[in-house]
Amino acid sequence: MAAFPPPSRLVVLVSGSGTNLQALLDAGANVVAVGADREGIVGLERAERAGLPTFVAKLKDFGSREEWDAGLAEAVASFEPDLIVSAGFMKIVGKEFLARFGGRFVNTHPALLPSFPGAHGVRDALAYGAKVTGCTVHFVDDGVDTGPIIAQSAVEVRPGDTEEALHERIKEVERRLLVDVVGRLSRDGYRIEGRKVLLP
Ligand code: GRF
Repeated sequence: MAAFPPPSRLVVLVSGSGTNLQALLDAGANVVAVGADREGIVGLERAERAGLPTFVAKLKDFGSREEWDAGLAEAVASFEPDLIVSAGFMKIVGKEFLARFGGRFVNTHPALLPSFPGAHGVRDALAYGAKVTGCTVHFVDDGVDTGPIIAQSAVEVRPGDTEEALHERIKEVERRLLVDVVGRLSRDGYRIEGRKVLLP
């Protein structure tokens, strides 16, 4: 069992439009820095607009995936976060990152895990013919979207849905869920017992 005090300092990792990051900022979350795996994304612009420090760790600037992972971990650590949020960060972190931040690294995924893990959760749910999908906020472990689940919300699939339309509806629910989860973790602290996340 691992017990964590209420996290106060957040680092958010992004790869895209950063609407989840924006929702956290709008809700008053104490984001101390925003990191990305690429330049030129709206997510970084949002951080800059909010006056936050940003950093970019690009895979191709490192000699290997291990070195990238260690570099990312170092950059994150320099902001002394209590909680790291992967908000649309499209990279799988490695051993070093998890050794430093295991149990303190949260991801949001646009499907009801354990269904449809991976980079195309919305597309895969649609292709499978699922009638209900949604989003999952979970702690990250060494698998792909396999870590202990913190909270989930369901979204109905509509006849004729496109991936884009469904993803937009999921993201509306996802932003609220992420803000709620981060708020609760930050106010109350949490415990992780095996696969169970216990919020007071
Ligand atoms: C979210 O749906 C997230 O779950 C997925 O990518 C989307 C990111 O959206 N992996 P944004 O960058 O926060 O707008």
